[in-house]
Amino acid sequence: MRLLVTGGSGYTGGRLVSLARAAGHDVTGTSHSARAEGLVPLDVRDRAAVDRLLDELRPDAVVHTAYVQGDWHVTASGAAHVAAAAARTGSRLVHVSSDAVYGGRPQPYTEADPPSPVYPYGAAKAAAETVVALVHPGAAIVRTSLIVGDDASKQHQLALDFALGRRTGVLFTDQVRQPVSVDDLAAVLLELALGDFRGVLHVAGPTPLTRHELGVLIAARHGIAADLVPAGRGADLPAAGPQEVRLDLTLARTVLRTRLRPPDEVLAV
Ligand SMILES: NC(=O)c1ccc[n+]([C@@H]2O[C@H](COP(=O)([O-])OP(=O)(O)OC[C@H]3O[C@@H](n4cnc5c(N)ncnc54)[C@H](OP(=O)(O)O)[C@@H]3O)[C@@H](O)[C@H]2O)c1
Repeated sequence: MRLLVTGGSGYTGGRLVSLARAAGHDVTGTSHSARAEGLVPLDVRDRAAVDRLLDELRPDAVVHTAYVQGDWHVTASGAAHVAAAAARTGSRLVHVSSDAVYGGRPQPYTEADPPSPVYPYGAAKAAAETVVALVHPGAAIVRTSLIVGDDASKQHQLALDFALGRRTGVLFTDQVRQPVSVDDLAAVLLELALGDFRGVLHVAGPTPLTRHELGVLIAARHGIAADLVPAGRGADLPAAGPQEVRLDLTLARTVLRTRLRPPDEVLAV
């Protein structure tokens, strides 16, 4: 398969590029600010550049991971550019979305629950999903959760920064997510790129954890005691984001071969 991975210099995209190359696929990964060897430069905000790259490569499949959390134009417009170009060149599309599209509630969300974003990042990811579904109806849209695995993960860096006093802040005891292994996620993205699933799919770890519980697991890998991981409530802060976001994984268990491992297995010391 000829595969294009946007965000090939990123955490998930980088893992996917390596995995797909190791499996023998012809993979092009893109970077933006990073100048990594073996990747081609691309700014997804530049629609003409996205079109040129897709015309040149004519990939069988595109996995779109590129985003910037605080940048609507990259996250929403960039996704639109990639989806339109993939539809035009007849390339399969796997679009990576986020549990941030949801506003939070105690019961798990299924794929049938429409986005209900409560902050700008979630709104940009919801807008991206909407345009992807419209311009590329055959696309797979993967809503995932906190991506973990090693210290290249933003979630690991945040927990360690707080626990080691490199940054001031707390990990919330009232925000629940379902952390997923970066390797499991990359395997799912490759599986979907090779398959024909269309529509929204929730892909996350099976175990809901608070951000603080996740931080304690990450700290333990470095021999850092749990009581050094600062805890606090998001509800006490303005704009801390959604509280409990659980993703129902029934559909993923039905359609995927890849097993989604629990965080205590992924992060075992
Ligand atoms: N991280 C999480 O915990 C989490 C949770 C839920 C969902 N997600 C979703 O998962 C996906 C991957 O997340 P990640 O954390 O693995 O990503 P990441 O490590 O932050 O990488 C982001 C990628 O986007 C690229 N990029 C930034 N601006 C760009 C632009 N203007 N044009 C083209 N590429 C650009 C970056 O390239 P350079 O570095 O070269 O600039 C980088 O390769 C995202 O779609 C995100 O919304 C992430």
